[in-house]
Order: sequence, then C-alpha cells, then structure tokens
Amino acid sequence: MADSPEHDSPRWHGATRVVRAGLPAATPGAPYLPGPVFAAPYHAPGDPAASPFTYGRFDNPSWSLYERALADLEGGPCLLFPSGMAATAAVLATLLPPGGTLVMPAESYYTTRVLATQQFDGAWFAAQGIRVVQAPTAGDGLRRALEDTADDGGVSMLWLETPTNPGLDVCDIAALSARAHELGALVVVDNTTATPLLQQPLALGADVCVVSDTKAMTGHADLVLGHVAVRNPAHAESLRLWRTRMGVIPGPMEAWLAHRSLGTLHVRLMQQCRSAMTVAAFLAAHPKVDGVRYPGLPSDPAHAIASRQMTHFGGVMSFALADADAVARFFAASRLVYEATSFGGLHTSAERRARWGGDAVSDGFVRLSIGLEDADDLIADLTQALGAV
Ligand SMILES: Cc1ncc(COP(=O)(O)O)c(C=O)c1O
Repeated sequence: MADSPEHDSPRWHGATRVVRAGLPAATPGAPYLPGPVFAAPYHAPGDPAASPFTYGRFDNPSWSLYERALADLEGGPCLLFPSGMAATAAVLATLLPPGGTLVMPAESYYTTRVLATQQFDGAWFAAQGIRVVQAPTAGDGLRRALEDTADDGGVSMLWLETPTNPGLDVCDIAALSARAHELGALVVVDNTTATPLLQQPLALGADVCVVSDTKAMTGHADLVLGHVAVRNPAHAESLRLWRTRMGVIPGPMEAWLAHRSLGTLHVRLMQQCRSAMTVAAFLAAHPKVDGVRYPGLPSDPAHAIASRQMTHFGGVMSFALADADAVARFFAASRLVYEATSFGGLHTSAERRARWGGDAVSDGFVRLSIGLEDADDLIADLTQALGAV
C-alpha cells in the first residue's frame, strides 16, 4: 500500500485529520479507502519477510490502514483488537509484570475492574501475584493511593479512566502521569468516553491509551472493536505478539467499517457535544432531576480539570431520578431515548445503570448518551418524559 501523504500531518485540524487519516495516496482507478481484504494465507513465496502479509492472524491490510489512521490521531503506534476488553486485557497481560501492583479507579468501567480482580474465578492476575489497589477518581484519591502503594512495596502500573463510565468523574492525566513516572510506574488511560479528538492521553504524559471503538469512535451502534496506542514502540511489539499468539484479532470487515465511520467522527462528536451541553443544562435545572454530572457544566466538580485537558466534553452525562420506578416511567414516556446499554452512538440512548449491579450508584441513576437528533426535539422529548415521572 503506497504511503499516505495525509499521514502524520499535525498542522491539520481534527475535522480534516479524521477524514484523511490512514488513506493511501491517490491512485488512478483506486477507491479512496480500499475495501476489506479477506484472506487467511496470502501469496508469500520464499522468505516470509519478503511478503508484507503472510497469514491472517499476523496482519491484514484493512487493519493496517485503520491502525495508521488511529496512530495519526493518537500520536503513537496503534494496535487494533476485536473489542475494548480485548485491548484492556492485552495491556494488563503484557505490560503488568508478575508480582507487580496495579493502582486503578474504584469506579472505572465495571468489566475492567472484574478482569483485574476476579476473572476466571481463579483470579488470573492474582494467581500471578499481582496486587490491585482501587481508589476514587474524584478528588485526591488516586494520587494518595499512588503514594501509599509506592511506600508499601512499589507500584508498577497506574490505570486511569477519565471521564469515568458511568459517573463522569475526571482526574488530572498530566499531574498523575508525572508523579507515577517519578515512582517508576507505567500510566494507562482508558480514553473511551473522550476519544482522541477530545483528549490526548499520550501528549498529556500517559504511556498507553486504551479505547473501546465500540462507542463514539465507530458511532453507529453496529461494531464491537478496541484499540491500544502507545508511546514506546517496544510496548507495541509486546502487544502485537500477544494478539498474534493469543489469536485475539479483529475481523477485516469490522476494521474497514470502523475506518469508514472515522471520517464522520468530528462532525458526530461536535454535534453530540453541543447538544449535550444544552441537555445537561436543561436537566440540571429540572425539579425532578438530581445530581447531574457533565464535565462541560461550569458547576460540575470535574469542570476545571476537564477544561484543561479536554477540547470539548463529550456526549455522555449522568443524572438521578427518585428511584427505579421513576426511571421506568421516564423510558415508557420517551420516544427518542432508547433504553439500551453502551454510549457514543448516533441514537440517543440511556440506561438505569443499577440494573446490572457492579457500580456504586443509586437505583434511579441514569447514564444518558446524546445522539445526533435535533437538540430541540431532544429537549421536547425529555420534557414530556420527565413530565410522566
Ligand atoms: C470505559 C470503557 N472501557 C472499556 C469498555 C469495553 O469495551 P468493549 O465493550 O468494546 O469491549 C467499555 C465498554 O462499555 C467502556 O465503557
């Protein structure tokens, strides 16, 4: 595949970069984005090193183009995985040494916590002598946990998620990364709620960035994917070996669809961010709604840090109604809010998070993901749905 003239073009704005990232050089008669390449073996005579592609579990041209696009946006080499959790597991398994200590948020994405602490009943990471320390994202919790753990035997990895799902708490990536590095720890940021367009963890000092591309990155509620971006090329090599040997590989069709969706990421996110500000302000002023969390609201406890490290505040917010019954009435009355899990897609959706268990939230806690519908229509729908509560 010819090298892309678009690749590595920091002078361009996000809107331009997402449209052009990873595309091959213009070739007469070729499509802008070549279609998905389906292959298990490739023609590869003689020395395997002489063929750019040899076997489908090792590499694939459709992954490579999307990975190149992601690398351009993230500022470091990227590897694609079949889900956000596959990306998370690869990072924990390859970059956390046996006997090491992981400091992580007590309210980060539920399955990440489960993976680190309980997976496979036999507690996989615990069986490798890995200690997990959890602390709150808000306030000084992670910083204190980092210091205490460093004093108590050392810390190998600091895991951050900001803004958190579903609580929308925010932590200071630059400050925590600087201190973690002084203490000898690697820093990983789960950047799923923000995406690289709204927040750049590697530029802020993190070593590794993990994203579930299932959410806003692909944005059409039809793909499950994830990626990891790193600063150190040796980490990319370890992750690649893990992917190849464990066989946790994405499908070429998914990679191609994700690349196709990337071109609209900027317009989707900007529309979602604009509408989310309007909706968050509306909810914050509504008498039946409590505890609205949206980092874009000036009154939000996360606003100051979020303003420093994010360009915009995303399309996800949370709030609380009185109880589970009130939320059920809200969903029954709404015509535009799908009751569904996940977030970041073009359809507005929400869920009562306590229905799963696992998150320390009230029964009436709702995570709301703003889609691409007209903001006035959303406000009208929310007004009548809350009226039914
Ligand atoms: C913050 C965060 N990280 C990781 C994941 C896992 O991603 P996936 O569902 O693509 O495996 C999710 C999924 O909801 C998430 O919200």
